[in-house]
Amino acid sequence: MEKIKIAIIGIGNCASSLIQGIEYYRTKSPEDAIGIMHWDIGGFKPHDIEVVAAFDVDERKVGQDVSKAIFSPPNCTTVFCPNIPDSGVKVSMGKVLDGFSEHMTDHKPEYTFILSQAAEPSKADIVKTLKDSGTEILVNYLPVGSEEATNFYAECAIDAGVGFVNCIPVFIASNPLWAEKFKQNNLPIVGDDIKAQLGATITHRTLSDLFKKRGVKLERTYQLNTGGNTDFLNMLNRSRLASKKESKTEAVQAVLGDRLEDHDIHVGPSDYVSWQQDNKVCFIRMEGKLFGDVPMNLELRLSVEDSPNSAGVSIDAIRCCKLALQAKKGGILHSPSSFFMKHPPKQFTDQEAYDMTEDFIAGRRDD
Ligand SMILES: NC(=O)c1ccc[n+]([C@@H]2O[C@H](COP(=O)([O-])OP(=O)(O)OC[C@H]3O[C@@H](n4cnc5c(N)ncnc54)[C@H](O)[C@@H]3O)[C@@H](O)[C@H]2O)c1
Repeated sequence: MEKIKIAIIGIGNCASSLIQGIEYYRTKSPEDAIGIMHWDIGGFKPHDIEVVAAFDVDERKVGQDVSKAIFSPPNCTTVFCPNIPDSGVKVSMGKVLDGFSEHMTDHKPEYTFILSQAAEPSKADIVKTLKDSGTEILVNYLPVGSEEATNFYAECAIDAGVGFVNCIPVFIASNPLWAEKFKQNNLPIVGDDIKAQLGATITHRTLSDLFKKRGVKLERTYQLNTGGNTDFLNMLNRSRLASKKESKTEAVQAVLGDRLEDHDIHVGPSDYVSWQQDNKVCFIRMEGKLFGDVPMNLELRLSVEDSPNSAGVSIDAIRCCKLALQAKKGGILHSPSSFFMKHPPKQFTDQEAYDMTEDFIAGRRDD
């Protein structure tokens, strides 16, 4: 089977789980593969993905084989597949721009980024690397708040003629200007902000839908999240959080019967607890009124390992992007974006998004 050739920007915890997963499922069969939403997408299995280029800016990762870089600090996610063969692909130095927040330097090296002194590439250098490596899809795993860097790499994707899977909450697919650029260049895009397999967003959305269907009026809600990885450390700089908060809040607002006033909904990353490492804990509270205006409330605590929780979703998003490349379909892929991402260009209910995605995979719709 032909492999789907991807390049990854940001060899952090999510990239680690994705690369471990590609190797892990190589020895599995559909009957014993746990944790996969789709074993086969257009003939491509989870392990039919190959990383052919990688970019980072951390001195402990740049220059390393990708198979080693994913286990380098400050990555701290669960190692569920320790034996990754050498890929022959070295992590290239990326363009730093706003990927590195100043406050990260206040923490011990094992918990934070350390900037590499390697020379930064130009756009032409990155485009060349993408072309020479045969990259078909560029996957964006930059830190939250990397607006300039994401714009820069999105331009590289267009210039190199590759598809784009935007796993972070910087709006590319959901920005009409960017969406149009990808369309004009006939390149597919899936985005924005990857939704975990069973995480805070999908749980909060499902419960909100339940309230709506059961006639319970939701009056107030919050979703507080804590974690101890570099994603949470980076998000301590609240000036980087605007689009993350919008992405997470809108994902919940979009499925409510009646939108809540801003004052009555709080959804966001809430604090960094270093010893939690890649364990993310989410607290949801929902206050509503039942029959006869009688009040009720619900409290939920969800504990997940953050990065593997989204890697399986990326594996599906990448394969859907490949189907569009094969069909020569450019622009926004609405079905996978709405099912796999928190902030798609257009929100649908989870049932609609699921049905659309199944139709897309079966070839019954082209976007
Ligand atoms: N874990 C999840 O379930 C999940 C869900 C939704 C979105 N995301 C988003 O995915 C992104 C990646 O998450 P993560 O946990 O892997 O983060 P991470 O902090 O572990 O990794 C980010 C990586 O990007 C590198 N980097 C920083 N600036 C760069 C630049 N300019 N060029 C190239 N590399 C650069 C860092 O050195 C680091 O290796 C974050 O934005 C996160 O919010 C994750």
